[in-house]
Amino acid sequence: PPPVVVLATVKPFAKEAVNAVAKACDELGLSLRKVEGYKSREELYAALAGATGCIIRSDTADADFFVNAPDLKIIVRAGAGYDNVDLEAATRKGVCVMNTPGQNANAVAELVFGLLLYHARRRLDGSSGFELKGKSIGLVGCGRIAASVGDIARGFHMTCFGYSRSGRSQDNKCTMLSSPHELFQNCDVVSLHMPSNIQSKGCVDREKLYSMKQGGMLVNTARKEVIDEDALLEVLTARPDLTYITDIQPSNLDKIQEALGQDRFATQVLVTPKKMGAQTLEANTNAAVAAVTQIAAYLFNGDNTYQIATHLDNFHWPT
Ligand code: 3PG
Repeated sequence: PPPVVVLATVKPFAKEAVNAVAKACDELGLSLRKVEGYKSREELYAALAGATGCIIRSDTADADFFVNAPDLKIIVRAGAGYDNVDLEAATRKGVCVMNTPGQNANAVAELVFGLLLYHARRRLDGSSGFELKGKSIGLVGCGRIAASVGDIARGFHMTCFGYSRSGRSQDNKCTMLSSPHELFQNCDVVSLHMPSNIQSKGCVDREKLYSMKQGGMLVNTARKEVIDEDALLEVLTARPDLTYITDIQPSNLDKIQEALGQDRFATQVLVTPKKMGAQTLEANTNAAVAAVTQIAAYLFNGDNTYQIATHLDNFHWPT
């Protein structure tokens, strides 16, 4: 019988994307089992019984998950960030972990500009706003999402700067800076595109936030964990000129709201009700179909091109 692949997405993909996944599974000789919008871990674990492959989004794949997937050979995070996957547990169980880099990059990049324009044009209230042209944008983390943001930014005649820990960038047209401090101090817009991991946790700290330019805008479509949220609260309160724009609700949103009061909150903080960077038909389809294709290539040909296991180099084993 064909290998069973479970589509385990608590946040469902667009219908058309799921249809495309079903078609790809048919063509590639895989049997699709869907457990979209599952209501409990039990429901998820029941679906994993006998499964060889699994496709997830931000769904938690922890040690317990892998215990409940005894036949699993491969799990693909349809998307970029894999901070939701316990790499150590997967590796111990011999499960190959992959992501689908770049497949949802354009969707995230377009959202960055949608949010920036909405802010710059005063939330479309008709009062006089400002333009992005001539402003500088600093990209923290320089992978495929940052490269898409850079492409769009140049279309707006913005100047692009980048910083990444490795010093490398997927976008060879932006000027790389040698420290994140330089980027925070000099850019009108700072847009975060780094992964969430032990190294990046809380890296947007008090010092960097305070150092931002007058009128600076911080855009976070990455993860809330990369920001020191206590510092964010403090700096937004102390600096009425700064703006925080995000599609990820900070854990201390209530406190920020309370500290700023209604009027300042409305001008300084723009936060969408749900995480939505990758929520487009195109990104859903690209990432989900790439995930199926990668699973088939791995199971039938041993192709491990997008395997994340080598990132265990950076893994801090618990002491
Ligand atoms: C990603 O890491 O690819 C994005 O954050 C998208 O996450 P999602 O699949 O939960 O929308």
